Amino acid sequence: MARVLVLNGPNLDRLGRRRPELYGRTTLAEIESRLKQLGRQLNLEVELRQSNHEGELVAWIHEACERFDALLINAAAYTHTSIAIMDALEMFPGPVVEVHLSNIFAREPFRHRSFVSPVATGVVCGFGPLGYELALRAVAARLGLDGSGDG
Ligand code: DQA
Repeated sequence: MARVLVLNGPNLDRLGRRRPELYGRTTLAEIESRLKQLGRQLNLEVELRQSNHEGELVAWIHEACERFDALLINAAAYTHTSIAIMDALEMFPGPVVEVHLSNIFAREPFRHRSFVSPVATGVVCGFGPLGYELALRAVAARLGLDGSGDG
């Protein structure tokens, strides 16, 4: 079974309580259980991790190069600052989907620049927690697991 690592950056451990008018009331634990359930339907094994530390995220991307077939990443604020995360993602051989709960292009100008996008296969933003599920479906298509042949 193909394996997907879902990485989440700083402050996403506060989802549900953090600015709910912007990010919603769904917690990261709820997102994780929805993704695992969808993963079972799509024949994907899903593992979700969160860190408030840039270096830990970089180390997990390195680990993913050996042990996972695809990556979903919401790098949160590091999206807009981290060349280290970009450089690590560039080494990942499989599909990478950048996810954001909010539409970063409808927000402050400093959020319009992403260091993740240039090395991502695709980007899903603005759909709240649903974005993670859309991204997982995109990964299944890319890995040729959804039967559409459109990957
Ligand atoms: C975010 C958008 C980022 O700009 C912000 O720093 C976050 C969350 C999102 O999911 O909408 O922490 O990645």
